[in-house]
Amino acid sequence: MAAIIDGKQISTLVKDECRRRVETEKLDITLAVIQVGDDPASTVYVGNKKKACAYIGIKSLAIELPEETTEEELLKKIHELNEDNSVNGILVQLPLPKHINEDKVIQTISPKKDVDGFHPQSVGALSIGQPGFVSCTPAGVIQLLKRSNIEIEGKECVIVGRSNIVGKPMGMLMLRENATVTICHSHTANLKEITKRADILIVALGKPKFITKEYVKEGAVVIDVGIHRNENNKLCGDVDFDDVEPVASAITPVPGGVGPMTIAMLMNNCVEAKGIQEE
Ligand code: GUN
Repeated sequence: MAAIIDGKQISTLVKDECRRRVETEKLDITLAVIQVGDDPASTVYVGNKKKACAYIGIKSLAIELPEETTEEELLKKIHELNEDNSVNGILVQLPLPKHINEDKVIQTISPKKDVDGFHPQSVGALSIGQPGFVSCTPAGVIQLLKRSNIEIEGKECVIVGRSNIVGKPMGMLMLRENATVTICHSHTANLKEITKRADILIVALGKPKFITKEYVKEGAVVIDVGIHRNENNKLCGDVDFDDVEPVASAITPVPGGVGPMTIAMLMNNCVEAKGIQEE
């Protein structure tokens, strides 16, 4: 029987801390959210970000651009927002239409307003232990572990997935917390043998219910970053929860685990952005 790590509850704690800071320090914060086109999943994510801003007391500036927007037009908009002192954070919802180069867009956002933590300067700062914005999902995983009193220092941590947004920054953050880190990916040989070594197993590989109990050491902490809809339209993660839960000591559910933490950490980054810009 594993302890269930309640991401909804922990995300509310983080958001309420942000909200109190905004209230007591009378912070006037604006997050600009750019969406290009009308991908339905993106519309849901952007809507949730706006709702979270309203809850915290952060103004959200919604910039909805048509699918046909050129790269040049989008970059021009980002330059304008970089220069606008009333805007503290800039988020461009991904994925972008195919004719726009995402890397170029990410690199155009001012690192001082990069609340997603995707700019190469933010990523570089994280890798050399300098201050900077951290990608929200891996930052959220650290908060889940810490606020559940799960020790990280000295533990064997295995991460499955090496994306720029989750796997790689997750590895850097776990290193910063003094874990011993292994990052696995689609070319890893003997995956099961490696994941079975993990005291803390973090899964972000994007395959529904891929991780079964054969991949998990008895008593491991299992963090599931995946989110999918199964054949019955029900949400599930990369981990087969029912199979793994009996062998884990603690586990995140899907939904209600890592998911809610991403937006909470985005709100935290917006509050931090205001602080950095006032320095
Ligand atoms: N698309 C899916 N997740 C994210 C995210 O965290 N940030 C942005 N900008 N786009 C996303």
